[in-house]
Amino acid sequence: MIVFGGSASTGLAAEVAEALGCEQGRAAVKTFPDGELFVKIESRVEKGDEALVVQSTSRPQNRNIMELLFLLDALQEMGARTAAIIPYYGYGRQDRAFEEGEAVSSKVVARHIQLSAERVLTINPHKEHILHYFDIPASSADAAPAIGRYFKEKGLERPLVVAPDAGSKALAQTVAETLGCRCGNCQKRRLGPGRVVTSAEGLELSGETVIIVDDIIDSGGTIVEASKALKAGGAGPIHVACIHPVLTGNAAQRILDHARELVATNTIDSEYSRISVAPLIAEAVRKWNL
Ligand code: R5P
Repeated sequence: MIVFGGSASTGLAAEVAEALGCEQGRAAVKTFPDGELFVKIESRVEKGDEALVVQSTSRPQNRNIMELLFLLDALQEMGARTAAIIPYYGYGRQDRAFEEGEAVSSKVVARHIQLSAERVLTINPHKEHILHYFDIPASSADAAPAIGRYFKEKGLERPLVVAPDAGSKALAQTVAETLGCRCGNCQKRRLGPGRVVTSAEGLELSGETVIIVDDIIDSGGTIVEASKALKAGGAGPIHVACIHPVLTGNAAQRILDHARELVATNTIDSEYSRISVAPLIAEAVRKWNL
């Protein structure tokens, strides 16, 4: 098996290769003056070899998607059996047409990936049903227990794990189970992109340490509003964790104005990515028979 890393996931691909004890593939990726991409596989690939391509389709999404497609296609043309490991699945939030006429972007992306991959693995997709947009075996792995273990090692005293909205309840529940502590959720209403109102009603707060857990942090609006509501309701120190640190603009700084800590996994590389999903990916891949 050979593990190739796209530009968005070079470090993670190296970790995955090491965890699996297999070769790291080499590929040249260049950008022409007009912005078009050029990809060439430089490692020796034999017919029937198993090749994994690790590439998050994070910002710049369109470029990273094209690079993933080119890597997979080039490998398939060389006779490899290919699998796409997409730690962060971009366009995952457009998981359905919310209004008539909208493109279901996550489905469009899936349809293209499966043209040159035999299998797909992603980490905590925003909605699990996007896996059904693939006609090839597609699965996800859950990084929430790894977040729980991170805080366990920190030794936080009886924290309360809180989801900033109902959509992240299951995630917060898994983190709380790993920590053996209480769990709850805020209620969020979205007013527009990056604009939300949040209430912490129903949560019993009396100065305890709170860990807010979400799948994605993008503008930071969801976490900032949850932090404010929790503080107003009587919460103590706030720690923030997410799976996918999209962190657009000054999101991290906005959050750190309200929280002691911001931590994330490395599905997207960031200065807050202190929890590696490489062991999780390696564990899933070991179970495959490509
Ligand atoms: C929404 O349903 C997601 O789970 C996140 O809460 C959301 O994407 C975060 O976005 P932002 O950081 O822009 O509020």
